[in-house]
Amino acid sequence: MRPLRPVEPNIRRASNALLRGDLVVLPTETVYGLAADAANPEAVERIYEAKGRPSENPLIVHVSQMESLSLWVAESPRVLNALAEAFWPGPLTVVLPKSHRVPKITTGGLETVAIRIPSHSATLAVIDECGLGLAMPSANRFMGLSPTRADRIDPELATFCDCIIDGGPCRVGIESTILDLSSSSPQILRPGMISAEEIQAVIGRFGAATEAAPRVPGSYRRHYAPTKPARLVDAVSAGEAGLVFRYADSVNQIQMANDPAMYARKLYVSLSDLESRDIDEILIERPPDEPEWQAVWDRLRKATATEL
Ligand code: TXA
Ligand code: MG
Repeated sequence: MRPLRPVEPNIRRASNALLRGDLVVLPTETVYGLAADAANPEAVERIYEAKGRPSENPLIVHVSQMESLSLWVAESPRVLNALAEAFWPGPLTVVLPKSHRVPKITTGGLETVAIRIPSHSATLAVIDECGLGLAMPSANRFMGLSPTRADRIDPELATFCDCIIDGGPCRVGIESTILDLSSSSPQILRPGMISAEEIQAVIGRFGAATEAAPRVPGSYRRHYAPTKPARLVDAVSAGEAGLVFRYADSVNQIQMANDPAMYARKLYVSLSDLESRDIDEILIERPPDEPEWQAVWDRLRKATATEL
């Protein structure tokens, strides 16, 4: 399926498809998403089918403005306005008690809903045009790499969709930070490029470190993984295939940035380049063990985990 440019007639086409209950692939600043009308259980059911994803794994509802939040959320804490002011539209997802309007299938049976305002003009235009909240997981088949470019969308997943809107390469490159605000103390459930320190600067100190946090429903040790085995190493030698910090010395090595934001932006596309090469294994040089690398570390640990 040929991705469509994000121009007015294509925005309208995507919007009409969503209103009919069909699926479309949309760009966000983090990764491409597989979107459906979040209030339509049959449409949401099709997301699970297209991804091959277990249905107890909850989805994130995407809206385009704060005014829509009250449709999906039963109550929101006072800190939400400050967080929205600081980070939305952007790569932060919050978990809050859900309203009656959210079908069970969208939240995997939970009484809470994950919600965010993404930052990509094409997707915000689609949401404004159709007036829906969009359930939108990453547009990958279950366990695989999330696509950060329209040309990396799995052709089999594409067969379930009305269209793919091409919004260019994703600026952030890994999934949003998920912050649980549904219990007495806030907690990060999935690290992302908005760090705990940045969140603390807005809402004050909170809860335990991410490592101690319970696993998010529907999270697995192995995830975001290339189809070839991947392993973390101190250094990739000449002739070996993988992600390196120095100059690449062969076509099967990809030089990564020393800056965590630039590293994250290229991570999935680099792994997807390597998984299609004629190699047995992907070696990944360990990044620095520093707080600003936490979200990258999370994805690398999952990409290299050998069990679920
Ligand atoms: O950056 C992103 O968040 C991307 C783009 C497309 O927006 N979306 C994304 O969705 O990463 P997905 O479905 O691949 O991951 C969403 C995760 C779920 O695996 C689950 O762990 C968590 O969000 N989640 C969703 N609803 C939740 C809830 N009510 N409580 C706790 N965790 C929830
Ligand atoms: Mg995902």
